[in-house]
Amino acid sequence: MKCAIKFAIIALAATTTNAQTEDDDKKMFEAMGMLPAPGDISSTVSGTYVIGPNYTFDEAILSCSECKQGSKICGDGNCGQIYGDMGIRNITVYIPAAYKDGDEVGVMVLQDGDESLPFIRSAMDRFIGSDDDEHSLPTFVVVAVAVAGPYQLDYAFGPLGGTIDDCGNGMYSERRLEYNTVSKDYAQFVSNEVLPYVSNHQEIRSKYPNLNITDDPSGRASFGSSNGGATAIRMAFLTPELFGTAIAYHPNLGDLNSTANNHTEFPGEMEALWRPGGPELIKNSDLKPIRIFHASSDRDLGTPKACLINMTDGSDTDQSMVYQSSSFAEGNNKTQEALVAKGYNTRYAFGMNSCHGPQLLFQDMPNTLVWAWSDWKKKQDEKKTGDDSLAGTNSGSRKSSRIWLSLLISISIAIGFFILW
Ligand SMILES: *[C@@H]1O[C@H](CO)[C@@H](O)[C@H](O)[C@H]1NC(C)=O
Ligand SMILES: *[C@@H]1O[C@H](CO)[C@@H](O)[C@H](O)[C@H]1NC(C)=O
Ligand SMILES: *[C@@H]1O[C@H](CO)[C@@H](O)[C@H](O)[C@H]1NC(C)=O
Ligand SMILES: *[C@@H]1O[C@H](CO)[C@@H](O)[C@H](O)[C@H]1NC(C)=O
Ligand SMILES: *[C@@H]1O[C@H](CO)[C@@H](O)[C@H](O)[C@H]1NC(C)=O
Ligand SMILES: *[C@@H]1O[C@H](CO)[C@@H](O)[C@H](O)[C@H]1NC(C)=O
Ligand SMILES: *[C@@H]1O[C@H](CO)[C@@H](O)[C@H](O)[C@H]1NC(C)=O
Repeated sequence: MKCAIKFAIIALAATTTNAQTEDDDKKMFEAMGMLPAPGDISSTVSGTYVIGPNYTFDEAILSCSECKQGSKICGDGNCGQIYGDMGIRNITVYIPAAYKDGDEVGVMVLQDGDESLPFIRSAMDRFIGSDDDEHSLPTFVVVAVAVAGPYQLDYAFGPLGGTIDDCGNGMYSERRLEYNTVSKDYAQFVSNEVLPYVSNHQEIRSKYPNLNITDDPSGRASFGSSNGGATAIRMAFLTPELFGTAIAYHPNLGDLNSTANNHTEFPGEMEALWRPGGPELIKNSDLKPIRIFHASSDRDLGTPKACLINMTDGSDTDQSMVYQSSSFAEGNNKTQEALVAKGYNTRYAFGMNSCHGPQLLFQDMPNTLVWAWSDWKKKQDEKKTGDDSLAGTNSGSRKSSRIWLSLLISISIAIGFFILW
C-alpha cells in the first residue's frame, strides 16, 4: 500500500530533499498541469467555494529573493522534544524579519514538521506588513513540529509489522496516536511543552532573548494536512482556549479505521464532530470563538475514485482500496454543514478533479492564510494605532512590499529555498 496519509511529506520530499535544479521545480508544477497565477479566491471570501477542475499555483508560494528573510532556527538535526516513549522529534522555527524581539507575537503550529514551511514562509515574507489588505499578514512565527521518532520505527509497534504502510502511519503508529486520537492531549502537549521549549531554546534565545509568543488564542493557529489537518481542527475545536484558528488541507474528518488507534472515547474518530446519532460535538457543544478553514475534493480518500498524485509525472495513483467508513469528502462536507448551522466562521474549499494531494494548497494557501489571520491582524493593527497615539507619533505608512514576482524569476529561484536554509 502507498503512503496514503502522509501525502505531503512523500510528495514534497521527493522533489526537495535532493540537489535540485530549477528544471526539477518547473517539472513538478508542469507535471501536475499547474501554471502560476495570483490566488483567485479572495482572502475576504468565507463559506464554501469550489475550485478546479484545473489548477494553478499561487506565485506567492515561490521564494522571494527581494523580501527581507527571517531566520529559520533548529532546522537540521534534533531540536527535539520528548513525547512519551518515542523520544526525540524535530522542531523547526521560522521567525520573520519583521519580528521585533520582545513584541507579543502570534504563532502558527504546523503538523508533520516543516514540509509545507517553504511555501508558507514565502507567503509570509511577501505578505507580512504589506499595504495591500487582501494580501497582508500580521507578524507571526511558525513552529513546525514533526511526529516523535523516525517514522520508519513506527510500524514496529503495529500488529501488521512493516508490511501495510511503509510511512509509519500504520496501526498504532506514533502518528496515529498523535494525529488520530480525538482528545485535548496533542494541543496541550504543544502549548505546554513545545512552545515554552521553543521560547527557551538556546539557539532562539541567542537571537531573540524575549521571544514573546502570545497567550491569546486568536493569535495562535494550527496548520496541517490530512491527519495533521484533522489535528489542526481538533486543536481549535477541543481547546479553543489554546488555539483560535485551524487551517486544514484534506483533513481526515471521516473514520479511517477506528480500531487502528488506541482511542476509545470517540471510536468513530472525527465522525464524532458530525455523524448523526453520534456525539455530534459541533451541534451539541457551545459555539466557540474560533475560525476554521478546511479543504477536501471529489477524489479525496475514501471516495470511489480516490487517488494520490505522483508529482514526478502527474499521474494518479489509485487509492480506492483505502478503507473508510466515511470518506474525507463526506466528512468535510458534513463538518462544514454542522459548522455553518451552528454559526461558525468558516472557509471551505472543495476541489473538483482533485486527488488527496497538495493542489489546493498550492493554489489557495496564501489567500487562505490572510483569511485565517485577519482577526489577529485587526487586533494588532488596533493595538499599534493605540500605542502610536499614546506615544504621540503617527501610525506612519507601512512598508510596502512587492507581491508578485515575474514568472521567470519566481521559477528560477523556487528551488533555492530548500538549499538556502
Ligand atoms: C481544463 O484543462 C483541460 C486540458 O487542458 C481543458 O481542455 C479544459 O477546457 C480546461 N477546463 C476548464 C474549465 O478550464
Ligand atoms: C509580552 O507581550 C505582552 C503583551 O504586550 C506583555 O504584556 C508582556 O509583558 C510581554 N512579555 C515579555 C516577556 O516581554
Ligand atoms: C530530524 O531531521 C533530520 C534532517 O532531516 C533527520 O535526519 C532526522 O532523522 C530527524 N530526526 C528525527 C528524530 O526525526
Ligand atoms: C482495521 O484495523 C484493524 C487492526 O486494528 C484490522 O484488523 C482491520 O482489518 C481493519 N479494517 C479494515 C476494514 O481495514
Ligand atoms: C495501543 O494498543 C496496542 C494493541 O492493544 C498496544 O500494544 C499498545 O501498547 C498501545 N499503545 C499505547 C500507546 O497505548
Ligand atoms: C511516479 O512516477 C515516476 C515517473 O513516471 C515513477 O518512476 C514512479 O515509480 C512513480 N511513483 C509512484 C509511487 O507510483
Ligand atoms: C461535497 O460538497 C461539494 C461542494 O458542494 C459537492 O460538489 C460534493 O458532491 C459533495 N460530496 C459529498 C461526498 O458529499
